[in-house]
Amino acid sequence: MRTQVGIVGAGPAGLLLSQLLYLRGIESVVIETRSRDYVQQRVRAGLLEQGTADTLIEAGAGDRMLREGLVHHGINLQFGGQRHRIAFERLVPGRAVTVYGQQEVVKDLIAARLVAGGKVLFEVSGVELEDIDGAHPAITFNHDSQRLRIDCDVIAGCDGFHGVCRDAIPAGVLKVYDREYPFGWLGVLAAVAPSSDELVYAHNDRGFALLTMRSPAISRLYLQVAADEDIRRWPDERIWAELRARLEAVPDWRLETGPVIEKAVTAMRSFVVEPMQYGRLYLAGDAAHIVPPTGAKGLNLAAFDVTLLTEALAAWYSGDGSGLLDEYSATCQRRVWRVQHFSWWMTTLLHTFDDHDGYDRRLQQSYLEYVCGSQAAATTLAENYVGLPRA
Ligand code: FAD
Ligand code: PHB
Repeated sequence: MRTQVGIVGAGPAGLLLSQLLYLRGIESVVIETRSRDYVQQRVRAGLLEQGTADTLIEAGAGDRMLREGLVHHGINLQFGGQRHRIAFERLVPGRAVTVYGQQEVVKDLIAARLVAGGKVLFEVSGVELEDIDGAHPAITFNHDSQRLRIDCDVIAGCDGFHGVCRDAIPAGVLKVYDREYPFGWLGVLAAVAPSSDELVYAHNDRGFALLTMRSPAISRLYLQVAADEDIRRWPDERIWAELRARLEAVPDWRLETGPVIEKAVTAMRSFVVEPMQYGRLYLAGDAAHIVPPTGAKGLNLAAFDVTLLTEALAAWYSGDGSGLLDEYSATCQRRVWRVQHFSWWMTTLLHTFDDHDGYDRRLQQSYLEYVCGSQAAATTLAENYVGLPRA
């Protein structure tokens, strides 16, 4: 097979890249180790920045999001027995976020690719990259009991944190930044109407909790747990009791419970590699960086990377030279580090740490009070949360 851009991974990054390139007249083939069903059912992120929602619309994959997505103009921070609203309409007028599940984004992008005649090969294995530092890179892999090869001009490594593309870069080239957190999130999807119209981020001595949602009938909830927590120790009754203990810490508010549809524990880490490119290989999304989910940024950053990569490839193919491609990593990194900081900050502000004398707790309370009492501090949170402009 021959194509212009070989894309490894059919997550949000790979699929969106393929669709954006198509709209610029650039051909691509996407390969994915999992089945179509699997990637469409995988429950992950749920919150789209304004810029990400706009990009999906531009990509021609935003119709269902516009119909079914829930536009939110604020979030709630809960601490010290009170709930405070961070009002985007006042702090960052005209900007909002959209609640729309990542698996819905993936479904819409796959549908858009297939309608346009795009090539997405699922259930491949044994993926290997060849000649990434030469002018004729290639991807080889197994598909339908055959060994196949895609010759391309460039390869986009959109294969997530556990993919093979990052590791195809020779040892010593990448600088790796890595932090693991001493906790994880137990995420629950439940068939019950959300008990709050807007998200609730709860700071609590028992640990952090988050109430979010997927639709008017489906709630999504998270609990801070140990990083290596065994999900078998969490029968549904225990999950609801703990969510209640952490979220019902304000007067006159009750958490409605319902059947649990899905539950899983995710470890939390901050991770960046620099640079995000080597020869003809460009990394995008989780393949290059991971953030803890507290700031809801992982998916949004992946969308940002591939928007830049599309611009750079379009300039290159139209004869404007390789300037933007050469600058790809450096341009991405400015946003990557802003988002790394915001995600780390939200995480350290809201979670319970091993804190022998309560000093860290006091710092958190002080900062939470500041964020809720000062327009300047609240604006800092709001403008990062909805996503800084993509200048
Ligand atoms: P991915 O979505 O990981 O996609 C990579 C794709 O590549 C996958 O489909 C994978 O199967 C495929 N792949 C892997 N190896 C290969 C290979 N060798 N060949 C071909 N294909 C391959 N973010 C939030 O903002 N909020 C959240 O609540 C949240 N929850 C999360 C929960 C979990 C369990 C995880 C893992 C992540 C979560 N994230 C969350 C982060 C967010 O989902 C990611 O940032 C986002 O999925 C990044 O998209 P991506 O396309 O870069 O990577
Ligand atoms: C989600 O809806 O899954 C979600 C929302 C906000 C976050 C993290 C996850 O900060």
